[in-house]
Amino acid sequence: MPAPQHRQSRITGALLRWYRRNGRALPWRRENDQYRILVSEIMLQQTQVRRVLELYPRFLKRFPTFRSLANARTSSVIRAWRGMGYNNRALRLQQTARTILQQHDGKLPGTVETLQQLPGIGRYTAHALVCFVFGEPVPVVDTNIIRVLSRLFPRAISRDRSGKVNVEAVWTAARSILPRQNAYRWNQALMDLGATICTSFNPQCDRCPVTAFCPSAFRIKKRSPGTKKVEPGREGIPNRLYRGKVVEVLRNVNGRRFLSFSHLAKQVKPNYGERDKRWLRGILHGLERDGLIATKRRGSTLLVSLPE
Ligand code: ADE
Repeated sequence: MPAPQHRQSRITGALLRWYRRNGRALPWRRENDQYRILVSEIMLQQTQVRRVLELYPRFLKRFPTFRSLANARTSSVIRAWRGMGYNNRALRLQQTARTILQQHDGKLPGTVETLQQLPGIGRYTAHALVCFVFGEPVPVVDTNIIRVLSRLFPRAISRDRSGKVNVEAVWTAARSILPRQNAYRWNQALMDLGATICTSFNPQCDRCPVTAFCPSAFRIKKRSPGTKKVEPGREGIPNRLYRGKVVEVLRNVNGRRFLSFSHLAKQVKPNYGERDKRWLRGILHGLERDGLIATKRRGSTLLVSLPE
C-alpha cells in the first residue's frame, strides 16, 4: 500500500474521476433551493432512492416552500407523505418548517449545531445540509459511507468483538480524507459508491474505482441478507407496519372524518378479534403520542382520525 498521504489523494482522485462519469443524475443534485434539498435529505433518511425519486416531485408540487408546508394542515402533510413510510418524519419536517419561519427568518441555519436542534435533524442530516446547501467542507457519514470507509481504512476504523464499527472513528477518518475543494462531489461520490458497488452483500470489487487501495477488496464474504432484527409485532408482522397501516386507512377517509375503533380495527387487521384489542389500543396510543393521529370518545366508542 502507498504511504498514507499519497494513498489518500490517490483514493480521492480515483473516486472523483469515477463519479464524474458514473454519478447518478438525481434531481436534488441539480438543486440549489435549500427547502428542496432539506426535503430530499429527510426523505432519504429512511426511504430508498428509487422510491424517493417517484414521490419527491409530487410532494414538492403540493408544498413548494417552507411557508406552504408550515401553514398546511398536518393531516394534509401526512396525506402527501403517502408511500414514503415512517410518517413521523412528515410531522418533524413540518415542525422544522414552522421553526425556521418563526425563529430563523425563513432560512435554514448554516451551522451543524443549530441545525441539529431542529426536529428530525440528527448528526448525519445536519452535516449533509451544511455540505449540500452551504457548500462547506464537512464530512458526511451515513450507513453507506460507514461501510465504504470502514472497508477502505480497516486499521483506523476499529470494530468491537461483535464486528460493530466504531462510528466515531468513521467520522474522524471521513474528516481526514475529505478533499476540501471538492467536498460536495466527494460526499455524493462516496454515497454512490456505497449504493451501487460497495454494497453490503456481494460488493462488486472488480468494478470499483478504488479497489487497488482497498485492503478489503475481494475479501468480503459473499453473504445473503442474514437474519433480520427481530421487531415487536403481531402474527409475524412488525408493529411498525401496523402503525403505517392505521395512518394509511385514515388517509383514505375523506376530510377529517373520524372512524370508529372497530371499523378501523377490521381494516388494519382483517382477522381482528377481541384478543387483539389491547394490542391495537397500544398501537393507537403510540401514534397519538407521536401526533400522527387524534382520538376522541363518543359514549363508549373510541373515534380516530388524522390530526388537525
Ligand atoms: N442519501 C442521503 N442523501 C443522499 C443524496 N444526496 N444522494 C443519494 N443518496 C442519498
